Amino acid sequence: MKIIQAENYKDLSEKAAKFIIDYVRNKPDLVLGLATGGTPEGTYEYMVDDFKKNKTTYKDVKSVNLDEYVGLSPENPNSYHAYMYNHLFKHIDIPENQRNIPNGAADDLEAECKRYDQLIASLGGVDLQLLGIGHNGHIGFNEPGTSFEKRTHLVELTRSTRRANARFFNTIDEVPTHALTMGIKAIMESKHILLIASGKGKAEAMRRLICEENISEDFPASSLQDHSHVTIIADKEALSLA
Ligand code: GLP
Repeated sequence: MKIIQAENYKDLSEKAAKFIIDYVRNKPDLVLGLATGGTPEGTYEYMVDDFKKNKTTYKDVKSVNLDEYVGLSPENPNSYHAYMYNHLFKHIDIPENQRNIPNGAADDLEAECKRYDQLIASLGGVDLQLLGIGHNGHIGFNEPGTSFEKRTHLVELTRSTRRANARFFNTIDEVPTHALTMGIKAIMESKHILLIASGKGKAEAMRRLICEENISEDFPASSLQDHSHVTIIADKEALSLA
């Protein structure tokens, strides 16, 4: 794993955005795996800024998002569809039919997971996957205990993940109990992974990821230790225990 230390959140966001932009410039038809949560917001802001200033084009990029809450329609402001639209898609030129996010409002969730896996396969897999990390080491919504063999699947969110994400909702009761997420298997098949982390709250998870050589389903991010092209960009606070 290559570790790049950033001074702070702003620096991390700029470095992560530059990393992605360089990739897009070198491979304009990139299959780009995208993530949600608080951490990537700054990265997307820099990408939008760069799009306006430097005209980096995304017209041939295909994007594949990691996850979506179950039961929230794409129009729901708390859905990851809305998050992606507001933070990135409405500002850059990636065509609508090349943006992909699991549909958490599908009637048949199992069929939706299959559709998503087939879609990723038909794109030839993900070239560059952006990841955040949960306090408990979850990536995407793969909670501790999830088999590393799974592809897109339905998960029940842990109380701690729902609590952490409650800040985006009015109350914790509004946070959906389930989500669809790309599995570790698909994430591991990405050609390159860029994981970003910021703040003291992530320091223990980063310590476990970087310093412990124990690959275990109890700590989903540990799967990344087996991947040959992982870049971590994290700020000083997130790396303070590593
Ligand atoms: C959610 C997302 C993850 C994200 C995690 C951490 O659970 N599904 O993809 O990495 O939150 O989010 P944050 O960046 O807000 O700490």
